[in-house]
Amino acid sequence: MKGIILAGGLGTRMYPLTKVTNKHLLPVYDRPMIYYPIEMLVEAGIRDILLVTGGNNAGDFLRLLGNGKEFGLEHINYTYQQGEGGIAAALTLAEFFADNHLMCVILGDNIIEGSITAYVQNFEAQGKGAKILLKEVEDPQRFGVAELNGPRIASIEEKPAVPKSRYAVTGIYMYDPSVFDIIRTLTPSSRGELEITDVNNAYIARGEMTYDLLEGWWTDAGTFESLQKATNLVAERRLRKAARA
Ligand code: G1P
Repeated sequence: MKGIILAGGLGTRMYPLTKVTNKHLLPVYDRPMIYYPIEMLVEAGIRDILLVTGGNNAGDFLRLLGNGKEFGLEHINYTYQQGEGGIAAALTLAEFFADNHLMCVILGDNIIEGSITAYVQNFEAQGKGAKILLKEVEDPQRFGVAELNGPRIASIEEKPAVPKSRYAVTGIYMYDPSVFDIIRTLTPSSRGELEITDVNNAYIARGEMTYDLLEGWWTDAGTFESLQKATNLVAERRLRKAARA
């Protein structure tokens, strides 16, 4: 399976922190944010990784990560997103890299407590279609929200004012290569972006979407509050590990 990390965008929600750097280079406790999704993929055994960046300071990723030696990698692939087209538009840049393989796509500001290994294995066994990871949260209106119908997802709504459940769609998605055909059918949303939620709803309409519930804590780090939360959670995890060692 291939790994794709989406780390572009102008991060305007976090001005002035992101005025002179990319959001994914901001610190989360003792590491730059981008370290966490890379570690998540490597830990799950995914070593063929593409980083999609964009906006300003894209070159800083190269200086920071190089060929990924710090993560036990021999090589990292990079590509550059021109302009702001949304998450699904960023993903189209990965078509050549995906080369007809299954892929695990992670938003670069998503941080988890545990491991995605079991979910990646479940998707490998599934072999086609898509899988998303859901997490029960207190503030679902901030996210894509899944309406569940027993073992299936009935629909996903992007940042609904009145959420139909507390299940947030995390920024960890698994797709087969038909995702690129789906993206080609999309039209921009009211905020002018190709929405990942529309991609997921297309898989639901085809009856090819499954989900797993993510164990352990999950947070994004794309607002001031969630960045602080992420820092605190990572710090606690680090201290707990140190105490056990
Ligand atoms: C994006 C997705 C949303 C998802 C979230 C997870 O939102 O559009 O569906 O729940 O990531 O982090 P964004 O943070 O880009 O507004």
